[in-house]
Amino acid sequence: MISKKMEEALNAQINEEMFSSYLYLAMAAYYTSIDLPGFSAWMRVQAKEEETHALKFFDFIEERGGRVVLEAIRIPPRDWASATHAFEAALAHERSVTARIHKLVDVARAETDYATEFFLHWFVNEQVEEEATAEAIVKRLQMMGESKNGLLMLDHHLAKRGAD
Ligand code: FEO
Repeated sequence: MISKKMEEALNAQINEEMFSSYLYLAMAAYYTSIDLPGFSAWMRVQAKEEETHALKFFDFIEERGGRVVLEAIRIPPRDWASATHAFEAALAHERSVTARIHKLVDVARAETDYATEFFLHWFVNEQVEEEATAEAIVKRLQMMGESKNGLLMLDHHLAKRGAD
């Protein structure tokens, strides 16, 4: 059985993951609006992935005999200043998610909840990967300085995500 405190913290994370999904969908819409369909497709795949993260928490809470409680998802921004700014925002968001996951590990440790701590290890690793991926794309964007050719090439490259 899971403690009330741990249950609440994990439920809050379901909401955060759903917000992440919403945020990336908003970014997908933004990239479509500035004619970068590859960036948009990449963000759509990312949004789906965030939904699977939310469901992992959902299933885990139930497996541990807890109760899933869903709250309203906050409204994501709708526009960003540029293609680079939006990806920088995605990277900043992933860093904030990493901090939240680490806080969850702290709660699990304080509650001596080894099962939850072990479950969270997957997310600790996932965050390393998510940050590295976003960081690599942000670096490319910053290097290109938003040259039209560079953007189109990167757009073509990002379109391949999820296509295989
Ligand atoms: Fe669910 Fe992008 O972390």
